Amino acid sequence: MNKGKITQKVFVPEAPGLEKTIDETRQGSAFEDLRQAGPKARNAYIETYGCQMNFSDTEIIASVLTDMGYGFTQDELTADLVLLNTCAIRENAEEKVWNRLKALKRVKKTRPNTVVGVMGCMAERLKAQLMDREQLVDLVVGPDAYRDIPRLVEEAETGQKSVNVLLSREETYADISPIRLNSNGVTSFISIMRGCDNMCSFCVVPFTRGRERSRDPESIVNEAKELVAQGYKEVTLLGQNVDSYHYEDTNFAQLLEKVALISPDLRVRFSTSHPKDIVDDVLHTMAKYENICNYIHLPVQSGSSRILEVMRRGYSREWYMNKVNRIREIIPDCSISTDIITGFCSETEEDHQETLSMVEWARYSMAFMFFYSERPGTLAARKYPDDVDLEIKKQRLAEVIELQNRIQREISFACIGKTCKVLIEGNSKRSQDDWCGRNDHNQMVIFPKNGSDLKPGDYVMVKITEATSITLKGEVMA
Ligand code: SAH
Ligand code: SF4
Ligand code: F3S
Repeated sequence: MNKGKITQKVFVPEAPGLEKTIDETRQGSAFEDLRQAGPKARNAYIETYGCQMNFSDTEIIASVLTDMGYGFTQDELTADLVLLNTCAIRENAEEKVWNRLKALKRVKKTRPNTVVGVMGCMAERLKAQLMDREQLVDLVVGPDAYRDIPRLVEEAETGQKSVNVLLSREETYADISPIRLNSNGVTSFISIMRGCDNMCSFCVVPFTRGRERSRDPESIVNEAKELVAQGYKEVTLLGQNVDSYHYEDTNFAQLLEKVALISPDLRVRFSTSHPKDIVDDVLHTMAKYENICNYIHLPVQSGSSRILEVMRRGYSREWYMNKVNRIREIIPDCSISTDIITGFCSETEEDHQETLSMVEWARYSMAFMFFYSERPGTLAARKYPDDVDLEIKKQRLAEVIELQNRIQREISFACIGKTCKVLIEGNSKRSQDDWCGRNDHNQMVIFPKNGSDLKPGDYVMVKITEATSITLKGEVMA
């Protein structure tokens, strides 16, 4: 098997599940992908920001570029095409991209013919304005226009500015085989749907990604089978609201079952579940198949029914709690993680206390926590004043984080002495002498290699001996 050390530039996550290994040993097919994708006559450099969907989109963009004859470089100063696949979820996500664009001016100074493009959600939100504010941007491509990249790049190469930000009701890129640029060769994402119809009042996603549409289940199953054939051991089915997946007569529970049946050795995860849409059928399917991980990302956003109403989330505090109870009834050993926003419009101290009590009650295994950032064009921006003082938003966020850290530590410490099945993903970030992987609950587990002949992609039983709030440490069971 090929082994190689490849460094992939990856940026700080803006949304769930994006802890990325910046420097890791890659093996097998992912490395093959990268070798095929390696430097060619024309090279592209891509940075990705935002959620898992955006990372998955980068793999589609990479596929389109490969067909155009591009190779890939890790050094922006040697690239003919520099692309930023961007996120617009919060103001600071966009700030990061503006700063990056400023820094990229030196690319144009060194190689004036380099084409600089902005893709993804920020491209969709700001459209041609991006070019007005930052003169070096030649290319603006929205999330549904990646098939048009060959034409757009060609146009940009002639010195014209080129833009395509049309949203589609059908595009799912079902027939495009992603180049797994972000992969460790063991775990991979599969996009099962695009867009979102929920219109939560704070959220920009329905505007940047358009209407919800689901991808043909056959193409999803085929993609998963290909991954298995290449040695992958885990797939995460991605969508902004996977529980509303439907394609002709296939719903999400049925899709999940189809993917679980591909191989008992293939772990299946999915994200994100909207509390209002996850139904018993999905929970029963999870309970039925050992290889569907007992882990649900179930964003609550707030613990106050009044705030949930203003957020247009479609559930109340009680409804959410009943859903959590139902999950634990059907899947007794299920870990649940969440997203929380503090300081949303009109949030009072009392509402905030309800969020804290929800966090205390739900005992989330992990949480992504943010303070509210108003997004232009959303219902909240049009209708509700952003009236919680920034300092208070931050103070409340700090309180939620502190509480969640305590709970996470308690959950981790309770694992000490227990044994769990871990899928090895690669070397631990800190030491080449340790393996790192995840258990069924999506907890990170680190353990010494001890000269054994284990390798990434192997399942192994690990006895937990130490814990922190974010990782477990253990030893391989003989
Ligand atoms: N589709 C997913 C969430 C996608 S965005 C869902 O419905 O749960 C990821 C997270 O970013 C959201 O869950 C929310 O917690 C956060 N977020 C979205 N818009 C935000 C905003 N305007 N300010 C702060 N956080 C926001
Ligand atoms: Fe945004 Fe709500 Fe859709 Fe999630 S469900 S992407 S928070 S609008
Ligand atoms: Fe960001 Fe777009 Fe994802 S706004 S969180 S990259 S869907």
